[in-house]
Amino acid sequence: MAARGLGLLTSLPLRARRSQVQRPLCRLLSCPGTVAAALGREEQSSGSAETGSEDRTPKKRFSEVQKERREQAQRTVLIHCPNKISEKKFLKYLSQHGSINNHFFYESFGLYAVVEFSQKESVASLQNVTRTPSLGTEAAIPFRSRYFNLKLKTPLNQTSEQPSVQCRTQSSPSSKKLFELLCCAESVDDQLNTLLREFQLTEENTKLRYLTCSLIEDVAAAYFPDCTVRPFGSSVNSFGKLGCDLDMFLDLDEIEKFSTHKASGNFLMEFQVKNVPSERIATQKILSVVGECLDHFGPGCVGVQKILNARCPLVRFSHQASGFQCDLTTNNRIALKSSELLYMYGALDSRVRALVFSIRCWARAHSLTSSIPGAWITNFSLTVMVIFFLQRRSPPILPTLDYLKTLADAEDKCIIEGHNCTFVRDFNRIKPSGNAETLELLLKEFFEYFGNFAFNKNSINIRQGREQNKPESSPLHIQNPFETSLNISKNVSQSQLQKFVDLARESAWILHQEDKDRLSPSNHQPWGLAALLLPSVANNMSLAKKKKKPASERIKNLLESIKSSSTENSTATNG
Ligand code: CTP
Ligand code: MG
Repeated sequence: MAARGLGLLTSLPLRARRSQVQRPLCRLLSCPGTVAAALGREEQSSGSAETGSEDRTPKKRFSEVQKERREQAQRTVLIHCPNKISEKKFLKYLSQHGSINNHFFYESFGLYAVVEFSQKESVASLQNVTRTPSLGTEAAIPFRSRYFNLKLKTPLNQTSEQPSVQCRTQSSPSSKKLFELLCCAESVDDQLNTLLREFQLTEENTKLRYLTCSLIEDVAAAYFPDCTVRPFGSSVNSFGKLGCDLDMFLDLDEIEKFSTHKASGNFLMEFQVKNVPSERIATQKILSVVGECLDHFGPGCVGVQKILNARCPLVRFSHQASGFQCDLTTNNRIALKSSELLYMYGALDSRVRALVFSIRCWARAHSLTSSIPGAWITNFSLTVMVIFFLQRRSPPILPTLDYLKTLADAEDKCIIEGHNCTFVRDFNRIKPSGNAETLELLLKEFFEYFGNFAFNKNSINIRQGREQNKPESSPLHIQNPFETSLNISKNVSQSQLQKFVDLARESAWILHQEDKDRLSPSNHQPWGLAALLLPSVANNMSLAKKKKKPASERIKNLLESIKSSSTENSTATNG
């Protein structure tokens, strides 16, 4: 790949020709009806409204969103339905228990309905008319959850396998569909925004995530009444892609808040408790029993694994009905705070999420990230790298965490386990950036920036928004924003980092080539983001790499020569 067009390089006039060149609609493909239909889908998605990525949308605080969604989930039930069902009769039947605010159907090895009642009491009313099934040879463990199974006394005519109700998709588009959509976009900026729309969590998927946490909370409450199970990570930080895992936090500190700690006279009452030698052992014991509970009694929870010796102990399981891979942790409050911080960064400027989604998809397409833990870079690290890059623009697109701390008031003050996690949470107190760079430019510059970053000596640090000397020798050092002595990418090997750098340089190269190709409309190649993402391109890139090993260094030098010639050009023009 690196070899293509070497001779043409020096003649590339770069920044002189500015980015937002409009692509003729459907230049490469005739757009099938499916594309229009898919684009229509975006209107149903609420991701942007909630996170405030649309600039005019009032931006809700993270805590407000969490509170509303949690309360909504507590009034909601999950019902496994027969494949053939009359929606009207189904709703009429449920309405006996109270009015229904909202409902939708989806498929995941069967047909499911998510039904949100207006009142919590309706759920109890439905539970009161629900029976525990009596099975032939097996015995049921009775558990009154909010996850039901609906049976028809007289089944409807089963002539087709297709469900008779309209289902909401819970998955991202296929590569083919994505290719069509990207190639039909009008500009690279449009491509990035299209990718965001197609991959971001939908309103329904978000509801299902909060509902799943709420169902797990009911199971954990068997041991710890009044506990709370909260989603964190990409499910709530606005950077979640359809299909991402569901990180859950079992919060036992909430229980403390219920007790009023009233001392009467000289008396103070305390619970008798068992003591263990450390906080970590307490966490392991709590997760161990909750893991057992999920395994034995949790409806729909399968493949429960207790991973208690990890740095952050967790219980991993699949929630079959929702299709989510879940990671349940406790004593991990700082991660909740990082989710809030990322949510803020995502909502501060509409370019942030579009860029992060593209970089995440790019990394996935080239196997830089994986769902299996290993020596690869993670999505969380990539997100922090994009934030850092946007802090480094001139003028900066995102403020540093230290600056957000200076804007905080007394209510924002937050110290967790001795770490200062304070930052402003009111969006109105943060001035929007004066930077008007296009997404196309930012994408190209991101690849160039990290294609040339001195990873061997510098650390990435969003608290201060500047490069710092690495405090230790890991190949990639990205400081945890709150636990500043931790490196969030300690797991990344030198070879994985090198792969990232090589691909970043190659991608910068492809985008530079693009500038040139725009002048030749006969070019029937995938362009812009499509050229960077498609698996075939990824394969070509790795094939090209096998053939021409030292391509990365050459591309770096070529890019540098292009840059310096474009700087000379612009200096000459300005002069
Ligand atoms: N986290 C952290 N330090 C790490 C890894 C994770 O603080 N080294 C926190 C982050 O808040 C992160 C959350 O744990 O968002 C969940 O981790 P993970 O599931 O790995 O990342 P996500 O951001 O959820 O991204 P993905 O979509 O890949 O799940
Ligand atoms: Mg996650």
